[in-house]
Amino acid sequence: MGWFGLLTRDFLTLEDVSRGELKEVLDLARAYGAGAHAERPLADKTVCLAFFEASTRTAVSFELAARRAGADVISISEKGSAIEKGESLVDTVVTLDSLGADAIVVRHPAAGAARLAARHTGAAVINAGDGRGQHPTQALLDLYALSDRLGEFDELAGRKIAIVGDILHSRVARSVIPAFRAAGMELSLVAPDTLLPRESGAWGLPILPSVDDAIDWGADVLYTLRLQKERMTGARIPSVAEYARYYGVAERHLKSGVLVMHPGPVNRGVEISGGAVLSDSSLIPAQVASGVTVRQAVLALATGVAERMAA
Ligand code: NCD
Repeated sequence: MGWFGLLTRDFLTLEDVSRGELKEVLDLARAYGAGAHAERPLADKTVCLAFFEASTRTAVSFELAARRAGADVISISEKGSAIEKGESLVDTVVTLDSLGADAIVVRHPAAGAARLAARHTGAAVINAGDGRGQHPTQALLDLYALSDRLGEFDELAGRKIAIVGDILHSRVARSVIPAFRAAGMELSLVAPDTLLPRESGAWGLPILPSVDDAIDWGADVLYTLRLQKERMTGARIPSVAEYARYYGVAERHLKSGVLVMHPGPVNRGVEISGGAVLSDSSLIPAQVASGVTVRQAVLALATGVAERMAA
């Protein structure tokens, strides 16, 4: 299933995304950010948020995005829904479909869950994070926040970005890597072998042993990832203190003028210091803020509203 359908369009993965597709979403997001959402483009649409796993930023910004653009919004989570009684993902999606959902936003602990959901509904399915799989809207909002800071989308080309931390367990990494590449950025990975996935060899990216080495490499941006203890089986690092020494971003790294990003939630003092989170070099608040307009653009494209408006 690709990006383009006849009426609706699923957003499941950015693995094969092109520069043009990225630009299309970001241009539309910019229009919504400038006030076009006030025309309530999603006025006759029903958006269902089906979150089977914890979320703050993603859930809240999808809900705000849909409401501010005029959609009816229904939220279900494991607690308080029939999922608690053992209803499957597929049956839940079929039920939401029967109730008239135009878009279903799915977060699930299993990789591939959003793709499975998409097979069982005519509604557009948007992947809001599936296990270690993908998190496409996170990467889109990251590109939006970074291109805003640099001035424009074309400014991304040729910039150096180091992806730092727990890449093995990160769906965010699996989305930002192809997205940053498609935007023309130069990438490196900064992680111990134990936190790199097997497929990382095939990505053909330089692997650096510490944040200091990323600064020496000439990084313009450090994209830090949370140490995802809930997804870890067995010991992958000798100790948190040892990990923070090599893979933690500290204020001293920011002297080089490097920007720092993090998808949140942050483990302060582990992958990034509290001072670095709050510094002027930090794009973290801008990343969160970008979530609303970028998700409005995604919802409009997913439900076919954007095409109708352009026609
Ligand atoms: C991430 C997620 O849940 O995939 N957070 C987010 O959506 N902003 C990253 C994480 O959990 O570390």
